[in-house]
Amino acid sequence: MDPRRLEYLQAIGVDVWVSRSGPAPAVSAPVGVPATPLPVEEPVPVPASPAEDPLSTDVQAQWDALKTEVLACKKCSLHSTRTQGVFGVGNRRADWLIIGEAPGAEEDRQGEPFVGRAGQLLNAMLKAIGLPRETVFIANVLKSRPPGNRDPKPEEVAACLPYLMRQIALLQPKLMLAVGRIAAQNLLATDVSLGRLRGQVHTFGELNTPLIVTYHPAYLLRTPADKRKAWEDLKFARSVFQRLASQES
Ligand code: URA
Repeated sequence: MDPRRLEYLQAIGVDVWVSRSGPAPAVSAPVGVPATPLPVEEPVPVPASPAEDPLSTDVQAQWDALKTEVLACKKCSLHSTRTQGVFGVGNRRADWLIIGEAPGAEEDRQGEPFVGRAGQLLNAMLKAIGLPRETVFIANVLKSRPPGNRDPKPEEVAACLPYLMRQIALLQPKLMLAVGRIAAQNLLATDVSLGRLRGQVHTFGELNTPLIVTYHPAYLLRTPADKRKAWEDLKFARSVFQRLASQES
């Protein structure tokens, strides 16, 4: 196995072993999980580099205007308790859009999504499928931190979701990855459990953008036994993306 990939898998807490009878690698379950081997990982990396040509001045201006609007937003009461709005970060030409729930304490302090412990795990998970953080775009359903990290209220989601819709319209990602129940249920307008939303290609919006659901990294920090399932989700997302990319070329 590629030593870097091995390092990443270990970083996200998925134990990896190499069979003595042959070179083919397999991924074993973390301690406490039945050791069902996962499919052998194919070496093909996800094409991570976005297109080279720069965005038009007009599209850049629309992104900048949207960011200014979000940072000044007072559409819900969260503006009075937040330190700052958290717009989103990453490559404005990214193929992949990662969507979380809402900023936590560290994100509220730094003004960037997924920069705390959950963010470090998210980075490692993305890197494991060949997607360094800077190649994707990362945003949340809510742009302001709910006090004490409580779940977003419906009126907060209703006020904030149009910002995410505009980000999606500007980015036009090829694939969306919703991390966690809150992001998945709000984007898909459903109350179906996260467990039942996993493992399928949903579609989002008028462009029918493929949307895949996985666990939130903060949940995985609390429940490491489910990292194996998250790894399956990531490989599934990667295979869907690769299939789309091969259909385009
Ligand atoms: N959890 C989220 O859903 N988003 C963040 O930005 C940080 C933690």
